Amino acid sequence: MRVTVNPGGTVGGEVRVPGDKSIAHRWLILGATAEGRSELRGLPLALDVRSTAKVLAAIAPEGSRAALEAWASQAAATAERQRSTANEGEPRPVSISLEAQGRVALRAPEGDLDCGNSGTTMRLMAGVLASYSVEARLTGDESLTVRPMERVAEPLRAMGADVRTTGGRPPVTVRGGALDGIRHVAPVPSAQVKGAVLLAGLAAEGPTTVEEPVSTRDHTERAIQHLGGPVRTKGSSVTVSAFRHPGFQGEVPGDISSAAFLVVATALAGGSLVIHDVGLNPTRTHLLDVLARMGVRTRPTVDRDELGEPAGTLEVEPPSALTGVTVEAAELPLLIDEVPVLAILATNATGRTRFRGAAELRVKEIDRLAAIAGGIRALGGQAEVEGDDLVIEGGGLRSGTVSSLGDHRMAMAFAVSGIAASGPVVVEGLEAAEISFPGFARTLAALGARIEP
Ligand code: S3P
Repeated sequence: MRVTVNPGGTVGGEVRVPGDKSIAHRWLILGATAEGRSELRGLPLALDVRSTAKVLAAIAPEGSRAALEAWASQAAATAERQRSTANEGEPRPVSISLEAQGRVALRAPEGDLDCGNSGTTMRLMAGVLASYSVEARLTGDESLTVRPMERVAEPLRAMGADVRTTGGRPPVTVRGGALDGIRHVAPVPSAQVKGAVLLAGLAAEGPTTVEEPVSTRDHTERAIQHLGGPVRTKGSSVTVSAFRHPGFQGEVPGDISSAAFLVVATALAGGSLVIHDVGLNPTRTHLLDVLARMGVRTRPTVDRDELGEPAGTLEVEPPSALTGVTVEAAELPLLIDEVPVLAILATNATGRTRFRGAAELRVKEIDRLAAIAGGIRALGGQAEVEGDDLVIEGGGLRSGTVSSLGDHRMAMAFAVSGIAASGPVVVEGLEAAEISFPGFARTLAALGARIEP
């Protein structure tokens, strides 16, 4: 799908964003391995979350398998309908009711477990499969097939599972078994690796600790703790022990990483915006601090708690001036998914913006360091990769054509860039947005952006 985003237009208003992808993966996994009934509302129609539901369906016993399959196909149909119906409104939350019988009831899959584009599905599921004595092979699409998997295989092996990667990459074959708790000192901060090891730890003998160089998003441990599980957090290390639970209910809050695209779009157009029902977990809101340093003031108001996840409203005020900033390496894990869109904001700021130590962006869905810098240059801006730093000069973008390269966050970041460019920006491959934010183009257009097919 190719769209043209024309500069100008007033962007702003009130909006809801699809449910949080990171939270949805984890709640689906915890629901499908519970010993009883779970009811999850507000799951996003996102392709990545559908991948997790389908993988879980392939190993779930009869009843929960049917519910997971039905959810995945209903989500696909709803997303399709929304694509073909102009301006039907915000993506509708789709709920699922699951009656599960614990991890022991999981069965051997009949074929490969296809994780699609989703690194989170592959890594978290490796952690689930580690304690389960059948063999399963996790595969994925072309982009996922080149992503590093030893970072998750190695600690799971240390716990006692047989985990094989293909030269460090997918496919990943897991033959689980009895696990022992470990203390894993992670060389690279990664919420996916932490989540996988903690999920395996729920079925291990003795405590399991993950110690990270810097803290990452904490959705796994929050959910376990909220369910009454044994979780201890100390600085950037977290410990869990064996735990079973009878299921839960919850409504997934909106995804702040999806909201980020709308916040930047509004800031570039000088408008104001209110985002309702959005997740405001402190391990995800660091974006708001960086935005404030750049001159974009936001007001988060927490008004509820969903399975330990703070949620509420986020208000965005029109910026007075945009300034370039330095984002330190220690901050990056807390806003890793927001770098593409913050880089676009930086092209419109005064002065230079530097993201220090951004090497992890090279191993995301694509090499985002190269893609951000290359895309900005293709649109007439100035951006360089210096070692592991991403350096962007302000001064604005002109116009041009850029490809998403199949990456959802690149697709949405470049679409947003057109709002403040001096001429039209053509984005090829905008359908990649469906990975995390189905209905993105329609939502942006409804807020006033001038998007044309
Ligand atoms: C995620 C963790 C991050 C993030 C990804 C979602 C998660 O990846 O980039 O979009 O849900 O745990 P890493 O763990 O590889 O940093």
